[in-house]
Amino acid sequence: MTYRTTFEKTPTFKDAIVRFGRGERAVHEIQALKNISFDVPHGTALGIIGSNGAGKSTLVRTLGGVLTPTSGRIEVRGRISAMLALGVGFNANLSGRENVVLGGLAAGLTRKQVQERADMIADFAEIGEFMDLPMRVYSSGMYSRLAFAVSVHMDPDILLIDEALSTGDAHFKHKAAEKMAELMKSARAMFLVSHSMASIRELCNRAIWLHKGKLMMDGTPNEVTHAYATFVKVGEDAFTMDDL
Ligand SMILES: Nc1ncnc2c1ncn2[C@@H]1O[C@H](COP(=O)(O)OP(=O)(O)OP(=O)(O)O)[C@@H](O)[C@H]1O
Ligand SMILES: [Mg+2]
Repeated sequence: MTYRTTFEKTPTFKDAIVRFGRGERAVHEIQALKNISFDVPHGTALGIIGSNGAGKSTLVRTLGGVLTPTSGRIEVRGRISAMLALGVGFNANLSGRENVVLGGLAAGLTRKQVQERADMIADFAEIGEFMDLPMRVYSSGMYSRLAFAVSVHMDPDILLIDEALSTGDAHFKHKAAEKMAELMKSARAMFLVSHSMASIRELCNRAIWLHKGKLMMDGTPNEVTHAYATFVKVGEDAFTMDDL
């Protein structure tokens, strides 16, 4: 996956001429993922770890179909529900309930199904009266609670979660972990991007480690988180287990 982006904030014709005169290139390429290949059978809870900028979000965005890979291919068998970086798919001026209803209708559910599901989602998210307030007044934790609740109530075969849990409080993290374990029992697949090595070890049965777009390791959560902690030379203690 290669991102192509321009240097200028607002490219102008004059800038383009000047750049051309100097023989500079207008676009900057960032190779976010390089030659990555792996298979994930049903029943796998795959943890994805690595430093900031390693390519983790890019990987789950390509899996979720938000980005099209520049080269290579992704084969998906099953229905994907993605909880990607916060902010995708919600309209901040609508209430949580309105967003859920609109999303459900867009997904082809009937009004009755949508109402039922909205109630289940509201129950799970536990954000009280905020469910009926515009999402722009939500705290980031409320936002991620709702986003998580929506993604797990879409009855997905494949669940993609990017950093979802990081802004939830202890109570919600616990609840989210239980829900993910429950989904895993029905032989689904889950992808979890997290900087919390403790969560990766607790929730996943396999892990991959990305570094500067390359796949460094693919193995058990224990061995991969251990190798990563050693690589970044911080050692392992209670603090780093929750913050790499
Ligand atoms: N929309 C974009 N346009 C251009 N480059 C991007 C874009 N999104 C990400 N990148 C670049 O791709 C690389 C991988 O970014 P990515 O967001 O996948 O990292 P990450 O592993 O999720 O990091 P973090 O832990 O900070 O969330 C980085 O070098 C980043 O600068
Ligand atoms: Mg990211």
